[in-house]
Amino acid sequence: MAQNWTVESWKTCEARHLPQYEDAATLSEAEATLTSFPPLVFAGEARELKAQLAEVSAGRGFLLQGGDCAESFAEFHPNNIRDTFRVLLQMAVVLTFASKQPVIKLGRMAGQFAKPRSAPTETQGSTTLPSYLGDIVNGIDFAEGSRTNDPMRMIRAYSQSAATLNLLRAFASGGYANLRQVHQWTLDFMGRSPWADKFKDVADRIGESLDFMQACGIDPSTVPQLKTTNFYTSHEALLLPYEQALTRQDSLTGDWYDTSAHFLWVGDRTRFDGSAHIEFLRGLGNPLGMKCGPSLEPDALLRLLDTLNPGREPGRITLISRFGHDKVEAGLPRLVRAVKREGHPVVWSCDPMHGNVVKSESGYKTRPFDRILNEVRGFFAVHRAEGTHAGGIHIEMTGQDVTECVGGAVAITDEALADRYHTHCDPRLNAAQSLELAFLLAEMLNLEANGRQKNAA
Ligand code: PEP
Ligand code: CO
Repeated sequence: MAQNWTVESWKTCEARHLPQYEDAATLSEAEATLTSFPPLVFAGEARELKAQLAEVSAGRGFLLQGGDCAESFAEFHPNNIRDTFRVLLQMAVVLTFASKQPVIKLGRMAGQFAKPRSAPTETQGSTTLPSYLGDIVNGIDFAEGSRTNDPMRMIRAYSQSAATLNLLRAFASGGYANLRQVHQWTLDFMGRSPWADKFKDVADRIGESLDFMQACGIDPSTVPQLKTTNFYTSHEALLLPYEQALTRQDSLTGDWYDTSAHFLWVGDRTRFDGSAHIEFLRGLGNPLGMKCGPSLEPDALLRLLDTLNPGREPGRITLISRFGHDKVEAGLPRLVRAVKREGHPVVWSCDPMHGNVVKSESGYKTRPFDRILNEVRGFFAVHRAEGTHAGGIHIEMTGQDVTECVGGAVAITDEALADRYHTHCDPRLNAAQSLELAFLLAEMLNLEANGRQKNAA
């Protein structure tokens, strides 16, 4: 267990990006209520995920992490949850089929509500109001009442997370994830994408393999893994009062787990040395993520790793690099080398979203799809050159047919952004773009595997 740590030791450290609540009594009431509520996930599940991540850190397997930039109360609907789950499953099928390696499916779902913002206020015309900090804190409408921080929103976020998780668990184990269903997962609008045919091809080949195995007596009745899948949840552990209230001591091991999600990560803006967020995370038994942007120096990274993972437990830490398409090849190798030299067993994952935000001519915040793909290519190239495993991808995506990132095979133009731009924060990949990315990843993973074979020969 971490030394000198308590669930509230973070309160003695510098906390950035935490909301000020004017009403202390209501905050205490909300915290007490959450503390009395059941855990959303179990310590054993978090340990199981950590064990799978340990495999990835040893070069076996791949982490697929994706979902909304910010979940919202307004977009809470079973169809949205189902469609995002389905696209993640489709991506996982493509990746597993191509790489012949296990793929860990981790949603940015069921708790991804709180957002760090670049400015504390937002101005429209002559009015300046506090920034929107995510539905768990305040409202997105540009109006005074809506931008007031309300602790009771944490209770609603908890309820929405519980219901989302319940549905995800049902999808994962109740037959929807049966590999026999892969054809049916194809979404209607994917018909417009050249990648739909490619996916159908993969689905056909999986169907043939299943027919063959069934003839040999291996089917879902004898091997339940064929009809269920493991699906885990994650979010940025930003809103510490909420995370603290859901942190519980595991009766089996005596360790502390944040039961709001299986996996928690610390953002690029809150991972500085001595931060309240790092202090909170270091005491948890959950597997943890840390965003690594261009401002992170190798020395600082090593200090953070020593704080978060002094025992160098494999699977505990996933480093999520987010440099930008034009910076990854120059910036990432220094970090990879330092971590390798010090023998820290980490999973390296690529977030090709947060370093590639641009303002379009029409005024929308967008991400050019070709830059996203280029950051992924750069990430793989660095790991090939350093002899390390490119272990995962972290994306903001949705199963909906939104128009938020420009480009892709079904090209979304700058003018089209206005059509279906629904995100509550950053622009997300739509279903077709996500699948297109999965095929690129499959290609990259094959390159890595071929390189390994050559080296072994
Ligand atoms: C995010 O993942 O939504 C985010 C804010 O990322 P970063 O911390 O990398 O900027
Ligand atoms: Co984001």
